[in-house]
Amino acid sequence: MTTPSSGLFLTFEGIDGSGKSTQCKRLAENLRAAGHDVVLTREPGGSQGAEEIRRMVLEGDPDKWSAETEILLFTAARRDHLERTIQPALAAGKVVICDRFADSTRMYQGLSRGDLRATVDQLHSLMIGREPDLTLLIDMDPATGLSRAKGRQGTEERFEDFGIGLQEQMRAGFLSLAKEFSARFRVVDGAQPIDAVAADVLHHTKQALAGDTGASEK
Ligand code: ADP
Ligand code: TYD
Repeated sequence: MTTPSSGLFLTFEGIDGSGKSTQCKRLAENLRAAGHDVVLTREPGGSQGAEEIRRMVLEGDPDKWSAETEILLFTAARRDHLERTIQPALAAGKVVICDRFADSTRMYQGLSRGDLRATVDQLHSLMIGREPDLTLLIDMDPATGLSRAKGRQGTEERFEDFGIGLQEQMRAGFLSLAKEFSARFRVVDGAQPIDAVAADVLHHTKQALAGDTGASEK
């Protein structure tokens, strides 16, 4: 997909419970108050078809799907989301804030049950072909993140049920991904109070809006 876009594509990544959803909402409010046209969206989901796939992948037993099948399901959801929500908004010059994107597949499906990173990357370049302009990694201690996430008591707990070991692996993996894609990643300390995290996020976003980020990697 090479449709030219004039908007800005921001993603949030991090372990479960790190504060991504909270910070996505805060950033959307801050940017709207400054006059930006913002689309706030999430993965898996963000379009009608992708939300249907979301229910299939996030509910049920941890061993419901193999990692390979999950790569296909998450990528199918992402393709629909990109076609119907993200690309039209970017083409209209909007700021798109997305709670998780392809980096989550590189981590959760690419690392958690063997090394499938190359498969994730191949399918990504074939069917998605787009990286964010800026990725905010909310980094934090996995035990605190998991207890925050469990505190929500929802039904979408399939990945949280893999336990603390998965969260530790994901934290280390995300930090290493931030080095691999250092031009577009910014790491924010998620153990700070919500307002302090939001201030760091806004600082990095303003730099990206001013054109100072890693779009050259795309
Ligand atoms: P994520 O989307 O990364 O899973 P959430 O934004 O849903 O995380 O936050 C998980 C829980 O932690 C929520 O109850 C939220 O209110 C709380 N929370 C978020 N950020 C912080 C923070 N910086 N300090 C303390 N609690 C937080
Ligand atoms: P999310 O709703 O962001 O959960 P949380 O708020 O707890 O961080 O994402 C749900 C789960 O989906 C999360 O455990 C990570 C997983 N996931 C993948 O495994 N692969 C993916 O490509 C995406 C986007 C999410």
